[in-house]
Amino acid sequence: MRLQGARVLLTGAAGGIGAAVAAELARKGARLALLGRNPADLQALLGQLEGGAGTAHGVAVDLLDRAARERAVDDCREQLGGIDLLINCAGAMSFCPLVDEDPAILERIVQLNLAVPMLLARQVLPAMLERGSGRIVNIGSTFGSIGFAWFAAYSASKFGLRGLSEALRRELDGSGVGLTYVAPRAVRTGFNNDAVYRMADATGMKMDDPAWVASRIVNAIEHDAKDVYLGFPEKFFARLNGLLPRLVDGGLRRQNQVMAPFARGS
Ligand SMILES: NC(=O)c1ccc[n+]([C@@H]2O[C@H](COP(=O)([O-])OP(=O)(O)OC[C@H]3O[C@@H](n4cnc5c(N)ncnc54)[C@H](OP(=O)(O)O)[C@@H]3O)[C@@H](O)[C@H]2O)c1
Repeated sequence: MRLQGARVLLTGAAGGIGAAVAAELARKGARLALLGRNPADLQALLGQLEGGAGTAHGVAVDLLDRAARERAVDDCREQLGGIDLLINCAGAMSFCPLVDEDPAILERIVQLNLAVPMLLARQVLPAMLERGSGRIVNIGSTFGSIGFAWFAAYSASKFGLRGLSEALRRELDGSGVGLTYVAPRAVRTGFNNDAVYRMADATGMKMDDPAWVASRIVNAIEHDAKDVYLGFPEKFFARLNGLLPRLVDGGLRRQNQVMAPFARGS
């Protein structure tokens, strides 16, 4: 997909990966509608973008508020004169034993990571299908291919997002509208709390730089990629888990034990 002049709706725009994607897209000459929750964060982001306010505008919205979300998308469509590219980047996670998890947090993770991308796609697709062009990009995770202990709700939501991406990509085949699923491994952003960083140190979990991840996301869009899995050996284990999950059970057993006290906050 050609990004020069492309009209982009990006969620989670003020987050670690979202802001880096916004910067990369602004450099490529895309026109951006940036969705985030916090107006001050969006304002700060707009000030940092190449081309500044000329290439982008921000819309503060809680994506879990259905009426506000639908209105925000309509506003962005009007401002941009249409939407060529939807990037579902907003997300939430929790690192906690399932039995200890706050039910409200469980619901929020599934809503934000799975239901919201589905509903946003449903809202932007009719116009894309009518034009016979456009792309939806879903930011998944390695945890969408390998269910990790202590990340049950997050893994479940990202498995769901991968399933949605596969099904919708097949549904859109031949329509001129494409779908890209990108699965980063851990990334150094505020998404991960202190306990995750300490656990990552203890287990040797590798973490990527958000700017590098953003460059891979944008490259995937430019090449109309169907799915992209980032990081080795994570991308290999994602495939192995699909073929031989019992082998991966055994491989992760020791690591699960090391992770447990961090997840329990003890
Ligand atoms: N960081 C990682 O290790 C990692 C690894 C693999 C995949 N990913 C995926 O990459 C994506 C971006 O992650 P990130 O690292 O950039 O996380 P981040 O820095 O926490 O950014 C997430 C963004 O989502 C926004 N958001 C959360 N709840 C929202 C809501 N109800 N309405 C509107 N916006 C909301 C947040 O806004 P606020 O700032 O207001 O909270 C934040 O700007 C996520 O989908 C995540 O699952 C991340």
